[in-house]
Amino acid sequence: MAHSKHDMIERSLPLLMVLILVVVSVGGLVEIVPLFFQHSTTKPIGRDGKPLEVKPYDALRLTGRDIYIREGCYNCHSQMIRPFRAETERYGHYSVAGEYIYDRPFQWGSKRTGPDLHRVGGRYSDEWHRAHLINPRDVVPESNMPAFPWLERPIKASDIASIQAKMRALRKLGHPYTDEEIANAPKMLEGKTEMEALIAYLQGLGRALSNFQ
Ligand code: HEC
Repeated sequence: MAHSKHDMIERSLPLLMVLILVVVSVGGLVEIVPLFFQHSTTKPIGRDGKPLEVKPYDALRLTGRDIYIREGCYNCHSQMIRPFRAETERYGHYSVAGEYIYDRPFQWGSKRTGPDLHRVGGRYSDEWHRAHLINPRDVVPESNMPAFPWLERPIKASDIASIQAKMRALRKLGHPYTDEEIANAPKMLEGKTEMEALIAYLQGLGRALSNFQ
């Protein structure tokens, strides 16, 4: 009995491997390459003719974002609301690609020991955040989030000294900072605490889509 072509492929390991590689590569390319050309992943595109109001982080929020990363908040908090009802009812509108264009690196995360923070901006007062970060148990008795009381110290001189270089580097990558914003950046940080920077960052999270809700 003549072997079918399928038999031939299954009996020859090298041929099987080469064909699997071809299939996986073509599948991968078909999924990935169109993303390079989709403006929704690189430009702040809204819907229904309304622009998505994504602005680059100002100096204070940019510093707060670095503190968020330094303190490892992303280990327990994601910033990515998935398009499922259970998620949108709890957190708000699902996240869209254009919201992250000024997040380098993005803070999507994958671990949710605590709730997602992508739409936490404006949900609580600054005072609530301050009390919560100094001792989470004071405002959420059952919380197991660690306390971050040291954030009450002033922003470090080295962080103030490097903010302009940071903004210039981001400008090279396409963040539209003006010369004036960069010139005024150190002044914006002087006299501020790390807590104030972090809270400014948190309060700005997820606001871009608010004109769609
Ligand atoms: C070990 C895990 C863990 C780490 C690290 C952590 N958190 Fe949390 N966070 C939680 C948990 C659990 C909750 C829910 C209980 C509560 O509200 O305190 C929470 C709640 C929150 C909330 C309230 C969210 C809401 O929608 O009610 C905010 C804001 C927050 N965390 C910010 C931060 C920030 C900023 C950092 C870093 C400085 C951080 N967290 C680090 C576990 C963590």
